[in-house]
Amino acid sequence: MASFLIRGGARLKGTIEISGSKNSSLPILAATLMSDEKCRLHGVPRLSDIDSMIKLLEVLGCHVVRHEPKDASLLDGPVLNGPLDVEVRDSHNYMADYEIVKTMRASISVLGPLLAKRGHAVCSLPGGCAIGDRPIDLHIRGLQKLGAQFHIEGGNIVGEVRGRLKGCSMFLGGPQGPTVLGTINVMCAATLAEGKTHVVGAACEPEVVDCAELLIKMGAHIKGQGTAEIYIEGVDALHGAEHHVIPDRIECGTFMLAAAITNGELLLKNGNLDHLVALTDRLDEVGVRTESVNGMIHVSSSRRLYPVDMTTQPYPGFPTDLQAQLMALLCVADGFSVITERIYPDRFMHVSELNRMGARVRKEGPTAIVQGMKELQGTTVMASDLRASAALVLAGLAARGTTRIDRVYHIDRGYEKIEQKLAAVGAQIERVAEVKAAA
Ligand code: EPZ
Repeated sequence: MASFLIRGGARLKGTIEISGSKNSSLPILAATLMSDEKCRLHGVPRLSDIDSMIKLLEVLGCHVVRHEPKDASLLDGPVLNGPLDVEVRDSHNYMADYEIVKTMRASISVLGPLLAKRGHAVCSLPGGCAIGDRPIDLHIRGLQKLGAQFHIEGGNIVGEVRGRLKGCSMFLGGPQGPTVLGTINVMCAATLAEGKTHVVGAACEPEVVDCAELLIKMGAHIKGQGTAEIYIEGVDALHGAEHHVIPDRIECGTFMLAAAITNGELLLKNGNLDHLVALTDRLDEVGVRTESVNGMIHVSSSRRLYPVDMTTQPYPGFPTDLQAQLMALLCVADGFSVITERIYPDRFMHVSELNRMGARVRKEGPTAIVQGMKELQGTTVMASDLRASAALVLAGLAARGTTRIDRVYHIDRGYEKIEQKLAAVGAQIERVAEVKAAA
């Protein structure tokens, strides 16, 4: 296992290229199960979660090839990751087994495509998650409305369709609002259903829109993607398509916050500021300037950081996946900030680790009160989940002295070559073997 060693204090300066979106690539890869022909995807990042999804597709009878860019030296450029071809060669299997699902909850994205295309689906029920309770009841409810029948057996959700799925109207909102992967699961299934489907309370995230764009290229009839009401008219079959996945807005937001916490100046290539309006709004309040320059995002920070309040919300509100990273920044702002987590009320695993670095964060239910400190101190901390570990990297970049972050495998799930990207703009960060605790 590996750790990061970070010597804090360097101001980040330079250009970072943003990779393709993990959270768009995962459901898009699952959607290719519904095509009778090969699909070619560009910009799919190299991440352990993507590897897990590719393994799952192979178990489900797909032939997956990643084409290396012709000029090997380009291998280091994320956007130049070779295209990925996915082709269904054998559609007998419809079981997403526990060994893969336990490593990645997004495996649930194969449920809708399998039911719509193969009439059957068996998917291990996702287990516990460090960020809190993550039920799949809305996925099941939406697919049941389309006519699928489900029962639980041996820790698996077993789904079956008698005949063909049938379009209908449904409300898909939940106690915490819309569901991103649930919306995509139902949208995928409805593309091969008989008749029209109207989804009210749909998620509006850019990843939903990106998957809809791919499905439309595959021959689907979809309208309203990106709004709370999506209309789908079923077709008999879907064909192959070629698609570029959107840039990763959470990776991009993480680097914008890295520039802010190090009082740095970064240019972010291949980022899309339109997907980060809620973040730029908060950064503006903190005193960090963000603007588009020649198609790139320019972020520059003034020495003084102001405290702000923030509540996570469904898109276009402030993303829960940037909550921990913003908290790291506010740990060194000049005053008290209040952060409220509305999507995953228990998503605060990073708080105790930040406090180990000298931060002053107090949790009260779904709210955290952050008292800004002059500086943080480097020490040894533990990554617990993907975004919490990104927050610890940011805190380490700003801290006095050296920070060691253990269990960085969490970060490899969602950030492509993060230490190389940061080192290229002046960060003193290296990946080292994890120090084994003395027996
Ligand atoms: C997606 O997860 C992202 N994952 C998550 O990012 C992100 O945190 C989340 O959306 C919210 O933005 C991927 O895209 C792979 P939801 P998803 O269903 O779709 C509740 C990361 O760090 N809910 O929109 O699984 C749920 O408990 C990951 O990259 C139900 O109640 O999230 C939560 O409170 C972490 N019943 C809320 O809805 C359901 O059936 C939103 O969850 C489904 C969800």
